[in-house]
Amino acid sequence: MMRHFLTLNDLSPTELGDLVRRAVALKQAQGDARQSTLLHARTMVLIFEKSSTRTRLSFEIACAQFGGSSVFFSPGDSQMSRGESISDTARIVSSMADLIVMRTGAHERVCTMAQYSRVPVINALSDDFHPCQLLADLQTFYEHRGEIRDARVAFIGDGSSNVCQSWINAAAMMEFSLHVGTPGGYHPDPAIVAAAKDRCRLTDQPREAAAGADLVITDTWAGMGQEKEKTQRFAAFEGFQVDNPLMAKASPDALFMHCLPAYRGQEVAAEVIDGPQSVVWDEAENRLHAQKALIELLIS
Ligand code: CP
Ligand code: NVA
Repeated sequence: MMRHFLTLNDLSPTELGDLVRRAVALKQAQGDARQSTLLHARTMVLIFEKSSTRTRLSFEIACAQFGGSSVFFSPGDSQMSRGESISDTARIVSSMADLIVMRTGAHERVCTMAQYSRVPVINALSDDFHPCQLLADLQTFYEHRGEIRDARVAFIGDGSSNVCQSWINAAAMMEFSLHVGTPGGYHPDPAIVAAAKDRCRLTDQPREAAAGADLVITDTWAGMGQEKEKTQRFAAFEGFQVDNPLMAKASPDALFMHCLPAYRGQEVAAEVIDGPQSVVWDEAENRLHAQKALIELLIS
């Protein structure tokens, strides 16, 4: 049966746990000459309607390491930017390619791509979700601290961000408690919070959210497409920077994560992201390994 990966909920909790462990194994096998040729003579098409460094890099390198080739459409390249429909594009691309990786704005755009595609579609970030990031983040936690079940996790900043909303999905699936410290007006979608039941709690007190946390996470205060809202957003998020006094509220061995790109002096202080509790470089590298595990699951 053909499967897509549009949100974390497209996997079962068991599959998600297995995928994290498979990603660790693939990382250990990195450089092994007997690497899989899973994508030999196959093609991955990346359709990106927003900028990217890590996501493009990790998917294209994953494809190359699996023996496949990739075609990249940057924002404005394809006829979609001139009004060709997503459904027509999905039919054309999936008649030739074996996998579609799409980064877009409105989440329904990647859902439409999946609806009309004959091959698996991966959400490489939409306005609402960033599930590929979560695969790498869960792998990173697992490598540093073991199972995340029953851990206490804090997300500080923009609760409506795609990264936070995917963390809420993860809390329900992996059974940890997520405390989101976010100001009024930037709450996550209530339906996503409700689906996580008592695994997700909201507060407008960032230090309360961080108290006793095993992991502290943040994301940019103005994501892609929100650049014009910077003034009002920066005012709303004042007091929500992850700095050393905030990290001092967390557990002494708490980890710090950020999907990157990061803006030092805004959502995170340099002392934290460049400090000993930060695992952001592992997180970035793990995009490659976790997405290789995802490709195996969707293609094999
Ligand atoms: N974290 C992340 O998705 O980075 P890019 O926007 O560089 O792909
Ligand atoms: N929330 C950020 C994530 C970037 C990887 C954005 O959407 O721009």
